[in-house]
Amino acid sequence: MKNFWQQLKRPFFILAPMADVTDMAFRQIVVSCGKPDVLFTEFVSCDGLCSEKGRPKLLPHLAFSDNERPVVAQFFGSKPENFFKCAQLAKELGFDGIDINMGCPAGKIVKQDSGAGLILNPELAKEIIRETKRGAGGLPVSVKTRIGYNKIITEEWISHLIEAGPAAIIIHGRTMKEMSKVPAHWDEIGKAAVLCRKAGIPIVGNGDVMSHAEGIEKASRYGLDGIMIGRGVFLNPWFFDPAVDPASKTPRDKIALMKKHIGLFTQLWGSDKNFDVMKRFIKVYINDFDGAKELRAALMTVRRAEDIDGILDPWYTGNMNKPKPKVSEEDVAKEFDRVQDESEQDQDKKPNPTGIDSEYTGDLDGDPADTTPEEEELEIDREEKREKTQPE
Ligand SMILES: Cc1cc2nc3c(=O)[nH]c(=O)nc-3n(C[C@H](O)[C@H](O)[C@H](O)COP(=O)(O)O)c2cc1C
Repeated sequence: MKNFWQQLKRPFFILAPMADVTDMAFRQIVVSCGKPDVLFTEFVSCDGLCSEKGRPKLLPHLAFSDNERPVVAQFFGSKPENFFKCAQLAKELGFDGIDINMGCPAGKIVKQDSGAGLILNPELAKEIIRETKRGAGGLPVSVKTRIGYNKIITEEWISHLIEAGPAAIIIHGRTMKEMSKVPAHWDEIGKAAVLCRKAGIPIVGNGDVMSHAEGIEKASRYGLDGIMIGRGVFLNPWFFDPAVDPASKTPRDKIALMKKHIGLFTQLWGSDKNFDVMKRFIKVYINDFDGAKELRAALMTVRRAEDIDGILDPWYTGNMNKPKPKVSEEDVAKEFDRVQDESEQDQDKKPNPTGIDSEYTGDLDGDPADTTPEEEELEIDREEKREKTQPE
């Protein structure tokens, strides 16, 4: 079995896992604009996948197509036995690699010793890596993590991970506590690189890289094998092909891309996924041209995929004589309120076989969604306990 990490050109570029963003539909868009060297799925709950009720709902999150290879399935959880089973599943599904999420800062995930919660429990983290490798049938198992929990402990934490022999380490240069509120600490990523190079483990840096050239520069400056790109792709879907100048793209090109994305989204999810998820992408496509602001406002009022062509087509066909739908600011404000209300109700009422309720979800800044004051208090209590357990 080949370990693809060893065979990639250096430096390589990876499309980051982003919940509710990097599903197969969006990955196909990115591949069509300029293929990343590696693609990751969104994170998927191991516990959910191991439950009878959860598995069918979660499997579409693991859909991929051959043109994405090498493609890596990312899992989160805290039960080594479920990682073992999910590794077997990833192998059966034909993935090229498996990644363990040890970086998600969302309160509900961290409190179950998953995501960044594992930074506080290195023994469990190592056991999870070993069990995943055991179930992976030779597929390479990587870890995506941060530089600490509530304080920076890069070298100590990376040394623990190295003991369990992952096939690669991807490090986001912030602690869990820093979320994405401070600039990534690239000097810390550099320290992790020194340890990984000594151990012969490929190391990938992640955090705030907004252009291809910047990625090349950082890989060289910090001695990295690769760079992972998350939000940079929202600014420029052609990110991974440095030969393409996004400024050369016409409104028609961008609208065509959006229409393609909506088609792929509907094909993948049918009516299972709230169309509001798709609205997060409006700004990715509808930007930097005359009338973009008005068009974005009009698109915000759409509720179903079927209705979107009616708004996009007059722009797409260039038939500007066709009346464009008029949207008042009031309509847009109402729609914002509705989306807000529904997402709050969803959090409370929807059965959630994924076990996620991810604060990653729906937040293109990477910041967790607001919590209630009660949750906040509970989190502060937990935080104090955790601070006591993390050595100074
Ligand atoms: C909307 C969103 C969803 C995310 N979902 C995941 C995820 O499922 N798994 C993961 O490891 N990281 C996730 N992240 C973190 C990103 O992979 C990445 O580490 C972070 O955005 C920093 O990189 P960037 O500055 O290039 O965006 C998410 C980030 C965002 C913004």
